[in-house]
Amino acid sequence: GGADDLAGRRIVISAGGTREAIDPVRFIGNHSSGKQGYALARTAAARGADVTLIAANVSLPDPAGVDVIPVTSAAELAETVQERRVGADAVVMAAAVADFRPSSSVGSKIKKSGGEPDPIELTENPDILADLVRTRAERAPGQTIVGFAAETDDVVSNGRTKLERKGCDLLVVNQVGRGRAFGTDDNQAVILGIDGSATEVPRGPKEDLADQVWDLVSGRFHG
Ligand code: PMT
Repeated sequence: GGADDLAGRRIVISAGGTREAIDPVRFIGNHSSGKQGYALARTAAARGADVTLIAANVSLPDPAGVDVIPVTSAAELAETVQERRVGADAVVMAAAVADFRPSSSVGSKIKKSGGEPDPIELTENPDILADLVRTRAERAPGQTIVGFAAETDDVVSNGRTKLERKGCDLLVVNQVGRGRAFGTDDNQAVILGIDGSATEVPRGPKEDLADQVWDLVSGRFHG
């Protein structure tokens, strides 16, 4: 892609991992560092885009010239994404979102009682990516929607199934587990398109994968 091929484009990116409160001091979370989402934000800004970065529990410096909005839980992330997606040309969901949250977050710290611990009851969180797709025609026609998928095995076939289920335009399937993707400076992925395309991105800095994503998004804008 050209240096300024995203000029004038409004892009919303989610990064990091959500935290679902169990009580005031404990949460259910995941190992996302936000590095991949921040790399997407930096590279999009470098290519001229107007970037909003919704960051779930990330402790990285704010990328220059990017509007960063911190959030904590999946519900907060969902609300912020739905607000910010209006008028955006593309939304990229790189955040690792908890599928479940504790049904009720206790107001004070849970104590050891000496007996059997109480089980934690869980409730399903909304699927933000699927909701973006479902409401696109009405709220943001023509918007490009990109999902990420963290898979441990059968990366391409699981990715293809997930792409069809979620209905996004592009799905970046990265292999996780065994020290991969979460928290690292490099990544490796296959980018699947709803049109049946598959773009292999060899292991390299998270910026390289980000630039590949923007090449494909930019191609959709210009093609
Ligand atoms: O942050 P890093 O340390 O750099 O690591 C990067 C990463 C591995 C977290 C990132 O590259 C990645 O793969 N992010 C997506 C991880 C994930 O949650 O995958 P998933 O297969 O559970 O979800 C699929 C897609 O649906 C994702 O776009 C996710 O944002 C979205 N989703 C999931 C659940 C939910 N309730 N709502 C969603 O929108």
